[in-house]
Amino acid sequence: MKVAVIYGGPSPEAEISRKSAKSVIFALKKLGHQVFELELDENITEKLKQQKPDKVFITLHGSPGEDGTVQGLLEIAGYNYTGCNTQTSAICMDKDITKRVLKTYNIPVPAGETFFQGDKIEPVEIPCVVKPARTGSTVGISVVKDENSFQKAVEEAFKYDSKIIIEEYIEGREITVAVLNGFALPPVEIVTETGFYDFDSKYKKQTTEYKVPANLNLKLQEKLKKISEKIFKVLECKGAIRIDFRIDKWNNPYVLEVNTIPGMTERSLLPKAANAAGIPFEKLIEEILES
Ligand code: DAL
Ligand code: MG
Repeated sequence: MKVAVIYGGPSPEAEISRKSAKSVIFALKKLGHQVFELELDENITEKLKQQKPDKVFITLHGSPGEDGTVQGLLEIAGYNYTGCNTQTSAICMDKDITKRVLKTYNIPVPAGETFFQGDKIEPVEIPCVVKPARTGSTVGISVVKDENSFQKAVEEAFKYDSKIIIEEYIEGREITVAVLNGFALPPVEIVTETGFYDFDSKYKKQTTEYKVPANLNLKLQEKLKKISEKIFKVLECKGAIRIDFRIDKWNNPYVLEVNTIPGMTERSLLPKAANAAGIPFEKLIEEILES
């Protein structure tokens, strides 16, 4: 098959996207596909026209690309592409909208409030988490543990987005569950030095520990899988997605967000979860390609 892999672009997560693409391209070649490597820029449609791929493998993280814009462009131009459609991508790129939709399906999410640039922001209960509504890889996100750092956290989040969310900090464990074509993979636990899985602990620090699969009781495992498969269904996802959770000390899960284009780097979580389910990286790529 002729496969075009799109990556990079102007997103703050472009570097991660290029790393994801590197792994994906390597696997696609190993699987025997003819691969075209396309950096996302304003000439993307021209480049696609020249190459006429049978399928576009989208390995973009952040906006533009994970937000449905590239998916819409590809749909109009008549190309098949991997992963979620325009609508699902747009919903999931926005943590505020995602939480609102999930709430209506009785899926537990942390309590929080949304603020727009220029709003008067009332003091909130500390600890809390301040995040731009539409970034990935923890870009612009702060866990605020004392009142003095609250204002700085708000300013930091507004650097990346005109809409931010401030939500309750769920003291507890960080768990992620990937769903591949509707079926949840084994949950993975992330243990960091600081308790905050930020950009550095994701991509740089060697001290981050991944428990694959997570050591959870069967009941909680089943609950997380059930919630994750329900999310895949109600948001009409395609291919592979990854849902990030916090688990409090009473084992109550809270959904933080849904990633429609999970990272595919050497350190990324979806490949780890797939591996724990007996799905090697190349098989995972083939499944996404065919979905
Ligand atoms: N946004 C990053 C790449 C992830 O979800 O893995
Ligand atoms: Mg994300």
